[in-house]
Amino acid sequence: MTTDDDARDDLDAAGVLDPWGSGSIDDYRELFEQFGIEPFAEVLPTVPSPHFLMRRGVIFGHRNYDRVLRAMDANEPFAALSGFMPTGEPHIGHKMVFDELIWHQRQGGSVYGLVADLEAHSARGMSWEAIDTYARDYVLSFLASGFDPEAGELYRQSTNRTVQDLGFELGIQANFSELQALYGFDGETDVSHMQSVITQMADILYPQLREGPMPTVIPVGPDQDPHVRLARDLAARTRYFGVTQAYASVEFEPAELAVVAAAYEARSSYATDPDRPRCAEAATWLDDPPTDLDTRAVESARRKLDNAGKEPLRPRTRILVRNAPEAAFDHLIEAVPGEKRVFDAHVDCFDLDREAARNLADRVELDHGGFGFEPPSSIYHQFMTGLTGGKMSSSVPASHISLLDDPDVAAEKVEAATTGGRETAERQRELGGRPDECPVYELYAYVLAGEDDELAETVYEECAGGERLCGPCKAQAADLMRAFLEEHQAKRDEWAERLDELDIDFEADRPGR
Ligand code: TRP
Ligand code: SF4
Repeated sequence: MTTDDDARDDLDAAGVLDPWGSGSIDDYRELFEQFGIEPFAEVLPTVPSPHFLMRRGVIFGHRNYDRVLRAMDANEPFAALSGFMPTGEPHIGHKMVFDELIWHQRQGGSVYGLVADLEAHSARGMSWEAIDTYARDYVLSFLASGFDPEAGELYRQSTNRTVQDLGFELGIQANFSELQALYGFDGETDVSHMQSVITQMADILYPQLREGPMPTVIPVGPDQDPHVRLARDLAARTRYFGVTQAYASVEFEPAELAVVAAAYEARSSYATDPDRPRCAEAATWLDDPPTDLDTRAVESARRKLDNAGKEPLRPRTRILVRNAPEAAFDHLIEAVPGEKRVFDAHVDCFDLDREAARNLADRVELDHGGFGFEPPSSIYHQFMTGLTGGKMSSSVPASHISLLDDPDVAAEKVEAATTGGRETAERQRELGGRPDECPVYELYAYVLAGEDDELAETVYEECAGGERLCGPCKAQAADLMRAFLEEHQAKRDEWAERLDELDIDFEADRPGR
């Protein structure tokens, strides 16, 4: 999650989301429409005992999270991973991500937390000395929040050789033009910054390299969505085989496939022998197609069918070679049961449904040293508003509460925060406050109320109903914040004594500044 100062929204005029931008989004709806992020509300009913950040709508979007939920529900393996750039002290915005990861760990997931030190060094110019200090602070706060290091894994990008090697392999699948389009990189972008992107791709797929293919969720702010999209693409590009439906030796585009499927279904109405409808016969039928079919797809499918002439139209499952070495393809051909027809770069299977074909292709890929990666899923949380209004920024101490802040100082920051209240107590009683525009209400909802939904709702309703005034409301929040930090810091101290039990080094000892 980025929290730097920058005048811009992360969604710039060109419609590019900037992971190194300001850490603010003005319009979450645009993310659904423009980028295809799905509303979280749609999957919420199927989440087993949802986290309070899910219940309260703080987690607002996802990609393919249903895949992870299905695994959770079936007690099958799944993973969660997120990363933290050690550019400053961890604050309550990062606490959200700690909580999300820990929740997935308690749901039975294999959970990974990483320190993005290479990214901090290359994209933010942080010195290794500062990075070491902050890396330790992140790890301590993650542990103090409840992460179980024995059940999960913590690492630094810079010392994880497996991640580096995976990044190198993945880098083969991506080129500069793509990074340019996704991130707005240009001729001035330094090479290490690009390498940090590839490292993040490796982070995201690392759980599957360690433990085998499985659904993986990446909890992040929406500014990280370009990374998620690229990781999903790269995962697909490394796959050995693709599996599709086919009806004849020719290749149909997905839109055309729908047309051909309809033509196949209607075969008894036009074929001389309904057991062997000919491609050309289907083409003739398409001269006068059903109106619900896409006209352009009808036109191109009709042409292809016509060219195929007398070839029978016959449903089959097609396994295509994508990134597979020859030996793997040979092995696959041999392993296909029943009737099959072998071509240069695909094999048509007549006695194998799509799911069985996918399983077979996956097995052969793994047997031959492929990754078998599933495209990773993601969930997105809203950014917290700064206590001074505007953005929460690591470089403006009054705007955020660091998890290392002295509890009394933090309480003072809460007391001094901007609110959604009215000019006078009288007006507040009359009109009610504006909890939806209030950073103090956010503190309750995101952190202070914790599992206590009743508290969050009471604050909201009393505020909106004019029964709650900002003075006492802030005093209550300040007390809760003080107590929260006292407890958090006590746990940090306990973990600080035991850090050497962990397999993580806080002395980088690297060349460079
Ligand atoms: N780029 C992330 C940030 O700016 C940090 C990060 C590195 C990360 N690797 C990751 C986040 C993998 C999620 C998954 O904070
Ligand atoms: Fe915010 Fe509390 Fe004031 Fe409402 S009463 S506006 S929640 S500080």
